[in-house]
Amino acid sequence: MKILFVTSEFGDFAKAGGLADVSAALPRALKRRGVDVRILMPAYQNVLDKITQLKVVASLPGHAAIEPCLIGETETADGITVYLILAPSLFQRPGTPYTTPEGYDWGDNDVRFARLGLAAAEVGKGIASIGWTPDLVHCHDWPSALAPAYLAWSGANVPSVFTIHNLAHQGLFGADRLDALGIPHDAFRTDGVEFHGYISFMKAGLVYANHVTTVSNTYAAEITTDHLGSGLHGVTRGLAAEGRLSGIVNGLEPEWDPATDRHLPRMFDAASLEGKSINTDFIRTSLCLNPSDGPLFGVVSRLVHQKGLDLIADIAGNIVERGGQIAILGTGDPGVERMLLDVSRRYRGSIGLVAGFSDTMAHRLVAASDFFLMPSRFEPCGLTQMQAQRYGALPVAHATGGLADTIENDETGFLFTDFSVGGFLEATSRAFDTYHAPERLAAMRRRAMAKSFGWDEPAKAYEALFSRVAGVPASKPP
Ligand code: ADP
Ligand code: GLC
Repeated sequence: MKILFVTSEFGDFAKAGGLADVSAALPRALKRRGVDVRILMPAYQNVLDKITQLKVVASLPGHAAIEPCLIGETETADGITVYLILAPSLFQRPGTPYTTPEGYDWGDNDVRFARLGLAAAEVGKGIASIGWTPDLVHCHDWPSALAPAYLAWSGANVPSVFTIHNLAHQGLFGADRLDALGIPHDAFRTDGVEFHGYISFMKAGLVYANHVTTVSNTYAAEITTDHLGSGLHGVTRGLAAEGRLSGIVNGLEPEWDPATDRHLPRMFDAASLEGKSINTDFIRTSLCLNPSDGPLFGVVSRLVHQKGLDLIADIAGNIVERGGQIAILGTGDPGVERMLLDVSRRYRGSIGLVAGFSDTMAHRLVAASDFFLMPSRFEPCGLTQMQAQRYGALPVAHATGGLADTIENDETGFLFTDFSVGGFLEATSRAFDTYHAPERLAAMRRRAMAKSFGWDEPAKAYEALFSRVAGVPASKPP
């Protein structure tokens, strides 16, 4: 089976959030099952900085205001083929895949990601100079969501699966961009790409893909509700009724293992938890926190409204009063960062903030934490709660989306259903009680750390789905 995996982030080369982790892990897990998965992504400047060899394998024409591009081929050290879209004026810039270094969306994101979707459609149909034609195109989130649409508009019968990682980010652009993006005018209707007068990339993925998945079962149900459907609940309900919407929960990359993690000042496992406290002391010193016998609550997060960090600011005083400390690593919305900075100044010595993005720091902070705070308003899957459990940091989390699906309440973490200060306080209170009951704490940690969260099961489920949608036999029996 041959799959073209189309993504705007790939952990080896370009990361903004969990999509990068999934794009790095899922193709590898599929490859272990014998699937020939190849990645297609934009050649951002930082991607080109990281690769050592590149062969140009195709030249694609432009379309409307979408300029022509070249397709380069490279390979990761472990043999994953990556096709890179070489369009220097669109992608060779500083900043994240989506924003300027100052954090503003690039003004031409519509054309940039239409280029991604269009290239995916063309590589999906097969290009003679590449000499490889996939059985199915697998797209992720709004940046690659036009691929199934461009395939349909060109009359090509190439099967596609679209995975929603976050329905709240939809890629909305003005209707005056229809011609620039080469979108047929008769597709601009409510059962096409139109959304309240705008072009919606996300909706294109939902409408034109053969099947839609999202990254947990609970979120698959939540996005059909008025509350979490982001205005697209009519579409998602229709998909669910037709059996075209399902959930496959993400896994965790094997590098998240405290027994072999080279980022840590001291590695540890469930049988040698003394090692964990060395990590705790290390983070306390690094973040200028006072020496303490109380619990350390960790946070590693994009600093955005979705993550509910305002609730952490609201209960910070209570945690400090009860003898707890909070260590935060995050970057994102300047307003959220300022709010957390204010709190860390108010409780100097008890609350520390590292503003920035650092893999090493993320691993160290998770390893150091006794508990891990995740009061997300919604969470399609979430990876950090899995990382936390594997490192014996028990999550205190809102029971939503993937958090509800991957944390067992009072067994491997503490869930609260009522998204409010009261709900969050009640769950943190259970964490404090557990901290003061060492046997119970140790038992919960052992259970959390024993969970596998592997990618083998999710990869098996994706392969079975691809096999059904594309009518191609699975490489291994499902
Ligand atoms: P989301 O994709 O919504 O940000 P996830 O929990 O799925 O949430 O994935 C976030 C990923 O990004 C995790 O691997 C997490 O460790 C990582 N991460 C988030 N913020 C930072 C940061 N400031 N520095 C390093 N890694 C981070
Ligand atoms: C999104 C979601 C997150 C999910 C990640 C990977 O960024 O916010 O919950 O884990 O995608 O699927």
